[in-house]
Amino acid sequence: MDQGEIALSDREFGRVKARVYAEAGISLSDAKRTLVVSRLSKIVRALDLPSIDAYLDCLERTKSERDAQNFINALTTNLTRFFREDHHFEHLAGYVGRLVEQTRARDGKPRLRIWSAGCSTGQEPYTIALCLLAARPELRRWDFKILATDIDTNVIAKASLGIYPESELNGLSPVRARLFERPGDGTIRVPMAARALVSFKPLNLMAAWPMKGPFDAIFCRNVAIYFDKKTQGEVFGRLGKILAPEGFLYIGHSENLGSGGESFKLVGKTIYQSRPMQKTRDAA
Ligand SMILES: C[S@@+](CC[C@H](N)C(=O)[O-])C[C@H]1O[C@@H](n2cnc3c(N)ncnc32)[C@H](O)[C@@H]1O
Repeated sequence: MDQGEIALSDREFGRVKARVYAEAGISLSDAKRTLVVSRLSKIVRALDLPSIDAYLDCLERTKSERDAQNFINALTTNLTRFFREDHHFEHLAGYVGRLVEQTRARDGKPRLRIWSAGCSTGQEPYTIALCLLAARPELRRWDFKILATDIDTNVIAKASLGIYPESELNGLSPVRARLFERPGDGTIRVPMAARALVSFKPLNLMAAWPMKGPFDAIFCRNVAIYFDKKTQGEVFGRLGKILAPEGFLYIGHSENLGSGGESFKLVGKTIYQSRPMQKTRDAA
């Protein structure tokens, strides 16, 4: 145990697991014990409490929303990067390109809605915006919005800034790197045209969803890996209901839809299309 780290008994670990599962659907395996110790030790010390048990008692007793949120924020895993699993963005650009062609002759402002569910620090929704604007500049004239949500309020705050360290460009091709602004201070910035498309909101996938949809595409990637099979099935089943008929769902490379896959057909590597059932495309 590192200096300053608080001990975690089996009973305390059991309490932490039960709380984060009940609140966020996150299923912590025994392999996450070290992570729990290092993340919660900081909070326990900052609150000047003697143990993780005392901290959990305090959360239960005070019912402070801020402390409850800090507990969740501490236990999420937020790893992400620009253009992660980039075949998804190529596929989406192809689909949106077809939508643009189909709507060319129609009057009015065509509508496009995309949801990045579990967006972490924003690289995923910004990649969607940057790719689609580069592929189809006419989307600037569309009623086009990207909703980006995450349970972790810290990552939502960071994402809203659209500012990242230059190291985020590592591994990106020069063409992709040129999509970002580089003010020369060690940061990169997402250009305003792309930022303006994305709305960041805190949202727990386990809770009620305030939006009605339908979404033309949903990215829910590397989020359900933290859930158990039952919760995965429930979440993907709910995503199927809020996706437009024939819309696309993109999931992480190691994920599958499990019992939530009824309303989808697999159309590509970790790409699913909503079967056209009795759903409508009426605007929310
Ligand atoms: C590993 S990141 C994935 C980010 C991005 N989708 C990607 O693939 O690069 C997983 C994100 O899921 C979020 N998350 C975990 N449980 C959640 C829940 N119940 N509701 C909403 N977001 C959740 C975490 O906070 C974290 O930011």
